[in-house]
Amino acid sequence: MVYPEKVKIVEVGPRDGLQNEQSPVSLAHKLTLIDELAYSGIKVIEAGSFVSPKWVPQMADSAALFQQLKRQPGVTYSALTPNLQGFEAAMTAGVNEVAVFGAASESFSKRNINCTIDESLTRFEPLLAEAKARDVAVRGYLSCVLGCPYEGHISPDKVAQVAAKLLDMGCYEISLGDTIGVGTPTKTAAMLEAVLKVVPVEKLAVHFHDTYGQALANILVALQMGVSIIDSAVSGLGGCPYAKGASGNVATEDVVYMLNGMGIETGIDIDKLALSGRNIMSVLDRQSQSKVANALAARL
Ligand code: HMG
Ligand code: MG
Repeated sequence: MVYPEKVKIVEVGPRDGLQNEQSPVSLAHKLTLIDELAYSGIKVIEAGSFVSPKWVPQMADSAALFQQLKRQPGVTYSALTPNLQGFEAAMTAGVNEVAVFGAASESFSKRNINCTIDESLTRFEPLLAEAKARDVAVRGYLSCVLGCPYEGHISPDKVAQVAAKLLDMGCYEISLGDTIGVGTPTKTAAMLEAVLKVVPVEKLAVHFHDTYGQALANILVALQMGVSIIDSAVSGLGGCPYAKGASGNVATEDVVYMLNGMGIETGIDIDKLALSGRNIMSVLDRQSQSKVANALAARL
């Protein structure tokens, strides 16, 4: 079996993780987490989100966060921007990469961003044009690629169709989200097979939530199919406010441990990463969702 030599980890804990916390996490704690993640060697950190504070109050301090961030050289700090209003706010705050987020499911699109899939693509157009004019890279997320909390099954062809549109519109990378973590390895392979017909593998990222404990198995399949960009969240933080029952993202510690064991380079120091996870879990006052983090902590 041929595996990629290197994998790019996109750490989404500060955004996809902390957007889901019931009790607000202070700006100081968010900044510490982001600093520690960068210190562990992570090169792409999704640090915040410029969405409506009425919809996601947990991310309301993203402008302040980006203004106060101590940027480490070589690290990209990105943010979600659903529309031009969010993009302009992100630019004012000094964000250097943004992401738009659409869905492969109509019902999820309506619940998450209050519009149909087609309307969302229309909303992204001026954002992508403005980003191009300012030379800002835009990532494209696609949610519910392996199932939807409202519609159930999502066809691989639908995923491929929306992924191709995001790519055509100018997204430099497409992240395929199993938002509710229902996928299994064979479903993952079928979905990726459809998407790979329209998106080059080097532009594809996978974004698994670990609700049913399938994330690492699905990631292994994605690696076998040549995918070398993986989204994950330290300590397995997260969920999605508009996907009831979705548990956390796959834990970065678990992904890095697996990749280390397979001889695949990430540039991340797992001990420093695990320390950042222990620190944020002590702020949140609960146990990590990462088996690897818990195993490492037990040895201390
Ligand atoms: P809307 O209500 O349809 O928008 O929301 P609107 O244009 O009609 O505006 C309504 C109000 O929102 C106005 O304020 C706007 O100013 C304000 P008002 O006049 O009522 O005071 N507004 C904004 N405020 C701040 N920033 C903005 C912004 N845009 C409008 N950018 C909107 C549409 C998209 C804004 C809304 O639905 C929203 O914010 N949704 C949040 C969705 C979200 O953040 N979901 C979680 C992230 S997605 C995810 O987790 C999945 C992912 O991880 C992948 C995966 O796991 O699969 C990415
Ligand atoms: Mg997510």
